Amino acid sequence: MAEALHPGPWMSVRGLTRRFGGLTAVQQVDMDLHEGEVHAVIGTNGAGKSTLVHMLSGELAASAGSIHLQGRDVTRMPQAQRARSGVGRSYQRTTIFPEFSVLENCRLAAQAQAAPRPWALWQPASRCEASLQRAGAALARAGLTAHADTLAGTLSHGAKRQLEVAMCLATQPRVLLLDEPLAGMGAEETERMLALLQQLKRGHALLLVEHDMDAVFRVADRITVMVNGSVVATGTPAQIRVDPVVRSAYLGEENHA
Ligand SMILES: Nc1ncnc2c1ncn2[C@@H]1O[C@H](COP(=O)(O)OP(=O)(O)O)[C@@H](O)[C@H]1O
Ligand SMILES: [Mg+2]
Repeated sequence: MAEALHPGPWMSVRGLTRRFGGLTAVQQVDMDLHEGEVHAVIGTNGAGKSTLVHMLSGELAASAGSIHLQGRDVTRMPQAQRARSGVGRSYQRTTIFPEFSVLENCRLAAQAQAAPRPWALWQPASRCEASLQRAGAALARAGLTAHADTLAGTLSHGAKRQLEVAMCLATQPRVLLLDEPLAGMGAEETERMLALLQQLKRGHALLLVEHDMDAVFRVADRITVMVNGSVVATGTPAQIRVDPVVRSAYLGEENHA
């Protein structure tokens, strides 16, 4: 990464609010994402987690509040520019091209990032070479090198999700926003993804939206709990586990006593 590491939080959110007509989906959220940490956001369906992620990635405009990326105000920065500034996200739905190889998918992701116009096929070969290198590095980091030439459509569900993370890495993000990366995974696939997230902490700030509480409590360094659009608690897993507000509002006593 060209720039020196930022001393403060890599992403800093203050008073972030999103209204849909009369509904306030996200209300006055404050949050700091730090390099080297997995920051989980949990909450029941409709709590506002995905809306929050969409505002951080720039897909949705904030109704109020601010988002800073390594000290720079990006609140009104459009999504494509925000992505080029270091905000990467994986999607809840699959975004891979099934007919292309795993490596090609990663290369396209890297290239789309490098060139504002991905259809600009006339771009210099050197740029393609750089994209290929980034794609290869991303695959290695995501543990998919052995599958480089596999058609993406033939991967297992878990490997597809890994590929999505690799495609995100190919864009060289600093902040990684992951909305339910474990959805639909079996036990073994979950383990692999959790190990990957652990390993990605170094050099990234990770935001993880996840329903699997066992996974969250294992992998998260910090947890934010949302209820009806508002943050009701933020803390370490140990703090969240015993937080009386969280326990009554969200966590089942029986599961996390
Ligand atoms: N584009 C939209 N238009 C209107 N309401 C929306 C839109 N997106 C989300 N909402 C509403 O905002 C609330 C929060 O949704 P969401 O952020 O998807 O929650 P979560 O991801 O925590 O399940 C819900 O009540 C949802 O119906
Ligand atoms: Mg959601």
